[in-house]
Amino acid sequence: MSETGIARRSSLHGQWSSRLAFVLAVTGSAVGLGNIWRFPYIAGENGGGAFVLVYLVCIVIVGLPIMMSEVLIGRRGRRNPVSTMTLLGKEESGTGSWGLVGALGLGSGFLILSFYSVIAGWAVAYVIESASNTFEGATAASVEQVFNSLASNPLRTGLWHTIFLAATAFVIARGVERGIERAVRVMMPALVVLLLVLLGYSAVEGNFAQGVRFLFEPRFEELTRDGMMEALGHAFFTLSVGMGAVMAYGAYLPSGTSIMKMSVAVVAADTAIALVAALIVFPIVFANGLAPDAGPGLVFQSLPLAFSQMPGGAIIATTLFVLLTFAAWTSAISLMEPATAWCIEKLGLTRALAATAVAGITWILGLLTVLSFSTLSGVTFLRGTFFDNIDFLSNSILLPFGGLAIVIFAGWIMARASTASELDPDAGTAYRVWRFTARYLTPLAVVAVLLRGVGLI
Ligand code: PFF
Repeated sequence: MSETGIARRSSLHGQWSSRLAFVLAVTGSAVGLGNIWRFPYIAGENGGGAFVLVYLVCIVIVGLPIMMSEVLIGRRGRRNPVSTMTLLGKEESGTGSWGLVGALGLGSGFLILSFYSVIAGWAVAYVIESASNTFEGATAASVEQVFNSLASNPLRTGLWHTIFLAATAFVIARGVERGIERAVRVMMPALVVLLLVLLGYSAVEGNFAQGVRFLFEPRFEELTRDGMMEALGHAFFTLSVGMGAVMAYGAYLPSGTSIMKMSVAVVAADTAIALVAALIVFPIVFANGLAPDAGPGLVFQSLPLAFSQMPGGAIIATTLFVLLTFAAWTSAISLMEPATAWCIEKLGLTRALAATAVAGITWILGLLTVLSFSTLSGVTFLRGTFFDNIDFLSNSILLPFGGLAIVIFAGWIMARASTASELDPDAGTAYRVWRFTARYLTPLAVVAVLLRGVGLI
């Protein structure tokens, strides 16, 4: 196909109404439970400092270049990730087998969304807990009890999981522009404002110095092989890269938008929000004698403690959990979009039917996570509960492999002219830095962490 032919290729699913809409949507995808729930708890489990450092390095040399690669591939292909990788694979190297990378991504998406929806359900449940003043006069013991009684109740968590997933499918069914854009526009700025208020509280009332030391003083002896893999995996998870979500969004991006600048902005915002969340959580944890390695319940226990002590706490708590729910919602939407787009293009389903089918499969898978924290919490194998295994498989293995394949495709398989025409037709310094990183640094870093994870180096 000629260069102009490629430029004119258009998406079946519409386009973003503006450049800002795309930036908001990708930010909405990136910012979610990963920043506010997952980052603090895995940083806490892995001893803080050294883990945070590896995570930050992975964000810069792995996450950022892969995000640029995904957007450029998505915009060039303008289809769902499977068809895009098949199409570009044929164009660039004569083989359509690259479609398998897209297929792997769809699989990762189902797995991630299955547990994501359950944890988002916890956030919804906490909106109600906060609004009904459950946390007034709370103590370390009582917040733990509130969390445990929620997580261990499969009917309650199953119900919220169902409602959250249905709400996600609803937005997806309405389509790219009307659904996704609207959901992100207002919520993101509001979330940032509220986090800054909480940061102020934590700095004044929490043990801020100890929190900062915990997060930024590298103690390498505390970083295990698994911890390194988790840091790498989290860099993928938090930026939504490695499974085609950003690629699917890139497909709806008008040509002419600077992919590089936009990616830097999204990555910077996402990282800042994660660090702020951790800087809110740990000072509260240390001031109240909570355990930094409390696991998935960390945020759900530390924040309510803070709310219980501040004036107007119930209102602030309710607002925060509402915003967390919305942040999770905009991420879940991006997790559902690639598989939905595939069902529409390949199976000829309507958007509504495709979204329902994808949600149905995810719902069933999600029950495993619901039960992991309740009825089946005693059932452990390999890495722990079903949830621990799904989380490890998707984030520490599938996303890094998917991301590695994507960056190798963009760096080695695609012609220089093709990537340059998407990223920067003049092939300036920024483009050359990207290409060098994508060809050498990123693949080496991913392979090194994976090899270290399995004990080979
Ligand atoms: N980035 C989201 C978060 O940090 O909560 C999670 C996520 C969304 C991961 C979309 C992967 C994805 F494709």
